[in-house]
Amino acid sequence: MATSPSSVFYPVLFLFLVAPCYAADPDPLQDFCVADLNSSASVNGFPCKPSSEVTSSDFFFDGFTKEGNVSNVFGLRVTSANVLSFPGLNTLGMSMNRVEFAPGGLNSPHSHPRATELGVVVQGKLLVGLVTTSNVFYSKEVGPGELFVIPRGLVHFQRNIGEGKALSFTAFNSQLPGAVFTAPTLFAATPTVPNEVLTQAFQVDENVVNQIKSKFGT
Ligand SMILES: *[C@@H]1O[C@H](CO)[C@@H](O)[C@H](O)[C@H]1NC(C)=O
Ligand SMILES: *[C@@H]1O[C@H](CO)[C@@H](O)[C@H](O)[C@H]1NC(C)=O
Repeated sequence: MATSPSSVFYPVLFLFLVAPCYAADPDPLQDFCVADLNSSASVNGFPCKPSSEVTSSDFFFDGFTKEGNVSNVFGLRVTSANVLSFPGLNTLGMSMNRVEFAPGGLNSPHSHPRATELGVVVQGKLLVGLVTTSNVFYSKEVGPGELFVIPRGLVHFQRNIGEGKALSFTAFNSQLPGAVFTAPTLFAATPTVPNEVLTQAFQVDENVVNQIKSKFGT
């Protein structure tokens, strides 16, 4: 019996429909793969350091134990436990941040290209907001013990609207979620994004663009 095109097409289409679609880092192929950050090999992620050199300290991270310095223009300190600071996370598809805010502090609009973010407020009160690809803004005041989720890739922010300091922890389904901060991406890139692109995009004159660029030291 001859095989008609459709009898081939439908099984193939079915395979695509049921094939798992991974929206996060790939699954590990071994128990662990502590990153060798010094390796010159270039792979997706980092090569494993030899098991014989792995020690207990590769599975622990104490970078969240100390209070961070929030004396900066944004009143913000982000301490990251990602594969770069905590190489034991390599291939495990997870990471966390400790995020501290001075009163009025802002984690300015940004997105994470490789991860969804799940956050918990531990102290203080944050205004958490996100904007969808349909340009709809969602936001809520979030207090201690309350969680928020930011779908992967969406622009979002957190602002401390409480009286004192605020503290939150955020988890990501990527060992290195990446952060694209809207303002510096456009106004402080190296080399700089041409002024005519920014004046046209924002519908302002060049003085405004230069003024914003000067705030970011470019
Ligand atoms: C990478 O190299 C630096 C300096 O040579 C060294 O201090 C560090 O321990 C090395 N890291 C790893 C994971 O081998
Ligand atoms: C915090 O950072 C500011 C600005 O860099 C600095 O002047 C200040 O000494 C730092 N405070 C502490 C406690 O390290």
